[in-house]
Amino acid sequence: MKALVLSGGSGTRLRPFTHSMPKQLIPIANKPILQHVLENISALGVTEVGIVVGVWEQQITESLGDGSALGLRITYLPQDAPRGLAHAVVIARDFLGDDDFVMYLGDNVLPDGVAEIAEEFGRARPAAQVVVHKVSDPRSFGVVELGPAGEVLRLVEKPAEPRSDLALIGVYFFTAAIHEAVNAIEPSARGELEITDAIQWLVTHGGDVRAGEYDGYWKDAGCVEDVLDCNHKLLDGLRGSLAGEVDEESVLTGEVVVEAGARVVGSWIEGPVVIAAGTVVESAHLGPYTAIGRDCLIRHTHLDESIVFDGATVSSVGRLRGSMIGRSAIVVATGDDSRAEARI
Ligand code: DAU
Repeated sequence: MKALVLSGGSGTRLRPFTHSMPKQLIPIANKPILQHVLENISALGVTEVGIVVGVWEQQITESLGDGSALGLRITYLPQDAPRGLAHAVVIARDFLGDDDFVMYLGDNVLPDGVAEIAEEFGRARPAAQVVVHKVSDPRSFGVVELGPAGEVLRLVEKPAEPRSDLALIGVYFFTAAIHEAVNAIEPSARGELEITDAIQWLVTHGGDVRAGEYDGYWKDAGCVEDVLDCNHKLLDGLRGSLAGEVDEESVLTGEVVVEAGARVVGSWIEGPVVIAAGTVVESAHLGPYTAIGRDCLIRHTHLDESIVFDGATVSSVGRLRGSMIGRSAIVVATGDDSRAEARI
């Protein structure tokens, strides 16, 4: 089985962060979302991965390289514009050949993985196996209606009046039967080739289409609240380790990671917290549920339930809760004279 990961698109709901980076590289528990995705794919025993990329191709290739660090072989597949999830399958035809594949949306976070559903698919090899999850408001997702025996009857993309509470999660398993379907459909009203329409085409033409239910934690990391929620969830499983420097005045409680090359001085760190290499934390109170990226400076501040991207400075701002602080941002209190120093 191969994997097709979708990492094009524009991520408009995550602006301003996505003015300077793709949403799929936003760090959750100090790892880009795409890395969490690829680790799940690797856990299925898949090694051949095609990644569909758009305008952020360069940043994504710089972050993941050829995939060997994760035990994968990555092929990048440029898409000229976000023309839809089924269009991504069309442009991946040569890469996929006639192999079965898992299609995984590069902004979906499923810490519990999809190994059981992958096994089910491998045993029965239906034309398509979608993954569904019960949600209270399915209007912003693809929605699936099942028949009495659990067979897929109908799929509708973002319906105003959903006929079921089963949302399509961004993980799909396909045999080569999907290629005829993606070539047979027309663009939707929003101008995209919809994967839901392609799967519906399979249902209408007598294809075996099944649904596997995922009942673990799932988020489509589409907005700041969702990203912070994912960060909280993933930090829950953090195991502490201290490879960096922590001075005697500092107090650490709970699970705390201080990476080699990070420095903690006169601070209270209330885990789960992760502090990446090159970062200095001074006279600060961090946590719980906070991830600080590489090469940051945090001082005279209480930060919790937050994510600080690489290279940011946060100084003398009292308390910040539930914040995402962008790459190389400088957040300082007005009149704070440490600002000039922080820029050096
Ligand atoms: O997250 C689950 C939902 O994902 C499903 O319930 C929906 O049925 C499915 O259509 C999709 O909806 P979204 O509106 O969330 O899709 P989005 O445009 O955010 O794209 C999902 C990922 O695919 C994202 O990483 C960007 C990438 N993408 C998207 C398009 C349209 C591409 O690589 N190429 C594209 O042409």
